[in-house]
Amino acid sequence: MLGAEEWKLVINIGDLRKSFPSLAEGRPGANTVFFDGAAGTQICARSLDRMNKAMLDENANFGGMFETSARAGELVAKTRAAIADFFHARDAREIVFGQNMTTLTLALARTFGRRLSAGDEIILTRMDHDANVAPWLSLAEDRGLTVKWLDFSTETFDYELGELDELLTPRTKLVAVNYASNVIGTINDVRTITARAKAVGALVFVDAVQYAPHGVIDVQNIGCDFLVCSAYKFYGPHYGILWGKLDVLEALEPYKVRTAPLHAPDKFETGTKSREGIAGVLGAVEHLQAVGMAPIVAYEEELTRQLIAGLHAIKAVTIHGKGNEGRVPTLALTVQGKSPADVAKAMGRQRINVWHGHNYGWEPVKRLGLLETGGVVRVSLAQYNTREEVDYFLGKLDEFVS
Ligand SMILES: Cc1ncc(COP(=O)(O)O)c(C=O)c1O
Repeated sequence: MLGAEEWKLVINIGDLRKSFPSLAEGRPGANTVFFDGAAGTQICARSLDRMNKAMLDENANFGGMFETSARAGELVAKTRAAIADFFHARDAREIVFGQNMTTLTLALARTFGRRLSAGDEIILTRMDHDANVAPWLSLAEDRGLTVKWLDFSTETFDYELGELDELLTPRTKLVAVNYASNVIGTINDVRTITARAKAVGALVFVDAVQYAPHGVIDVQNIGCDFLVCSAYKFYGPHYGILWGKLDVLEALEPYKVRTAPLHAPDKFETGTKSREGIAGVLGAVEHLQAVGMAPIVAYEEELTRQLIAGLHAIKAVTIHGKGNEGRVPTLALTVQGKSPADVAKAMGRQRINVWHGHNYGWEPVKRLGLLETGGVVRVSLAQYNTREEVDYFLGKLDEFVS
């Protein structure tokens, strides 16, 4: 990992911003502060170019006896290989594309439920985005499963891992956890959780939507069975990706049309695939690999330190989450005497994009006791943000609060 200063040798933030066309002079984004990365990032040029090319030169259905079809097939194969590399997966057949993380998870839950019976148990958490909660709750209702909850501490903002062993039993079939929280920003020890779940034979489903833009993913190291993410959170288009262990994917029987292939990954990809989406994913991964994850992480850590220090200096602000360590650059705030919606509106008037409310983190915001009071203000940084933007935001927030 690079030190606090070393990233500067690798990243020139002015140059990096040039790889995001929406930030270019003359566009509305040029004078907008995008502190809404956790809800969706700006697209990078490589992704946009790849999508454009896909619609112009690779636009055909697969398996045809002509060149455009062959090119479309090559695009998909190349993207699967690139994503497999990005996740440290063993086999490109382990990569499943879909409309978004929520749709992929809803479909997988339904498929997974085919092998469960009443009384089987699943473990969900109080920290997760609803897309990694509601699909499993619906499944539990349909199949008569017992749902157990892994809590998190409102002091350390980590999962209560001490409680996990009590929740796990030989009937636990699945543990669904997030890699990084979309509300409080905690990076979770998914490797330890997986090891404990495996000890009772449970499968582990990891939601890496918020981790993917901010860290290196290694599914071999985690040891989980499934991992999902969404390309629009890491500078690509609105498209979802599911990784699953090949033997686990092969053993599942997804709902599909009879004429669709029998094997992974195609059997999970119902209907016509979005080749523009797939091309955009490839461009986004190429972008991340070109910039390099280590300098990105170091740069974002520095911005986060600056942001947290500045927020601490504003008395009316409470940060609901960890300090500088063990987090992604996503912060949940409340401001004394102001509703989250009012703060977001005031920031919006200054062309600073921040989110407010539960941010689909219904469980964590409820756990923080903030559901009835309008949730939180969510400030989330991305690789194209700058020190000047952080200072501008802190100044405007301070002005609004006082
Ligand atoms: C942690 C997390 N999981 C899942 C999702 C849902 O992703 P998608 O919009 O691709 O369905 C989000 C979206 O914000 C998220 O932040």
